Amino acid sequence: MKIFLDTAELDEIRVAARWGVLDGVTTNPSLFAKVGGSYDGVLREICGITAGPVSAEVVAESVDGMLHEGRHFARLAPNIVVKVPMSEEGLEAIARLKAEGIRTNCTLIFSANQGLLASKAGASLLSPFIGRLDDVNANGMDVVRELVGIVKAHGLASEVLVASIRNPRHVAEAALAGAHIATVPHKVLRQMIHHPLADTGILQFRKDWDTVRAPGHHRVSARAVQPERVTPKPNAAMSGQTRHGGRDVAR
Ligand code: E4P
Repeated sequence: MKIFLDTAELDEIRVAARWGVLDGVTTNPSLFAKVGGSYDGVLREICGITAGPVSAEVVAESVDGMLHEGRHFARLAPNIVVKVPMSEEGLEAIARLKAEGIRTNCTLIFSANQGLLASKAGASLLSPFIGRLDDVNANGMDVVRELVGIVKAHGLASEVLVASIRNPRHVAEAALAGAHIATVPHKVLRQMIHHPLADTGILQFRKDWDTVRAPGHHRVSARAVQPERVTPKPNAAMSGQTRHGGRDVAR
């Protein structure tokens, strides 16, 4: 399963790229609002960090408006994928952008049927929002399982991109469900790295290593822990040695 970062924060994207786990990025108007500046400028910078797909979301509600914004985003960089909402207008925009060779990510998917329609219209990526479904007492992962099943059973060309992820369990369950991609906030990516036993294990190994290398530390050599063969020395007293606890001890 590919991992995308769900953010418009350049530093977070750079860090994930350095960790070697970044396959792409998703942004939306709310994530962009947190960083501000120019959306075009931010998108260009993100596309300079990752060669993977970078989703840029339209905000227009009319088909013509979505097409206008989508074409503009697609000119910014070759790895831009235009994010279009699930709606009647969105489906038409997806179909027309597909005809122009522009890849789309259908966002705000909350049912397997919506995903099926987006795939038929030509969306490259289908984004079910699992966290928002869980928030309203539904089971977001059920939609993922159904949509993955439909895509695989019918050999559809779209990939299922699990979005609105809230915790590391969501990621593991998305992978087990056979989703192609999970887009995760930076916080969740860090939670996936850490485990209390891994973190304390690293500290303990370091502590033991430092202890054995500390000045004045007497290492117990392998030879010293071998069982000793005791050779009786009848004249030990004369040679300055005596038997002590089963061992020869120099005085
Ligand atoms: C990504 O493509 C989505 O826009 C994002 O995952 C939505 O997440 P949210 O439900 O936490 O806002």
